[in-house]
Amino acid sequence: SEDDEEFDRPRLAAHGPVRVRVPAKINLHLHVGPVRPDGFHELTTVYHAIGLYDELTARRGDTLTLTMEGEGTGALSLGEDNLIMRAVRALAAETGHDAFARLHLKKQIPIAAGLAGGSADAAAALVACDHLWGTGLARDDLAAIAATLGSDIPFLVLGGTALGTGRGELVSPVLTGGHAWHWVLAVADEGLSTPVVYKTFDELGGVGVAGSPDDLLAALRQRDPEVLADRLANDLQAAALHLRPELRQVLDAGLDAGALAGLVSGSGPTCVFLAEDARHAALLAAELEARACCRAVRTAAGPVPGARVL
Ligand code: C5P
Repeated sequence: SEDDEEFDRPRLAAHGPVRVRVPAKINLHLHVGPVRPDGFHELTTVYHAIGLYDELTARRGDTLTLTMEGEGTGALSLGEDNLIMRAVRALAAETGHDAFARLHLKKQIPIAAGLAGGSADAAAALVACDHLWGTGLARDDLAAIAATLGSDIPFLVLGGTALGTGRGELVSPVLTGGHAWHWVLAVADEGLSTPVVYKTFDELGGVGVAGSPDDLLAALRQRDPEVLADRLANDLQAAALHLRPELRQVLDAGLDAGALAGLVSGSGPTCVFLAEDARHAALLAAELEARACCRAVRTAAGPVPGARVL
């Protein structure tokens, strides 16, 4: 059996290859507050990890290399500026380990889509190399390194549904009792730059109106999609629509096709629609596909765990 093979394998080889799966995120609530002295905006957000995944494989090597396939191949830099490389370097610096690994990314999460795909890959890199090198950091230690790399990365180590504060990097789990929510994503042809969306938010007045997430959190506990539909909120939506007015048609198409609610995910341009259940999500996805109003349509349920070794 596979178990016996695992047992017979020499000890050295037990550390690799390591495969890590990491989800995309959407924001069920995103209140954007004032700009802080460090240039980031104060956030109150409810993150939600959904079943759309990237997979990062880490193997032993005597240098650090990164290859990829799937979404963004050719467009995404695989050099030292890639968040995966920065994450590996940060983990190595923190633990005193050599930053050696052969990494391969299988990407399904679209890039620059408001789904935190790059942040997800950084979270995966931290978990993968921690496992490969046997550095054995606690989740909190990984989250602390993650926070230095990007606002969304600690959440992607954690997963599930979580309240995010600070610039988004301070996360605490929201317990939703195992209820699954069903979403349909409309992925745009071209990405949006997160800094540009925040800058546009400032130019449009820089005052968020989403406010407290309490009503949204109560709706999650009620487990009624009709109730949740009314409470989804995103302060970056107006900025995303300002930059991409055609997203309004995508949102209207989803609502017209029977979605309970539709909103821009994070900084966009992906639009996310709430469905009643898995069957409704599949119908909605088919209807959106038929209308050909976006590059790709995906269904995904949430919440799902954060970056995990397979
Ligand atoms: O933290 P992260 O690198 O993902 O942020 C990307 C950009 O988004 C930042 O450089 C900043 O322009 C903007 N941002 C912000 N306030 C936040 C998070 C991100 O202004 N809380």
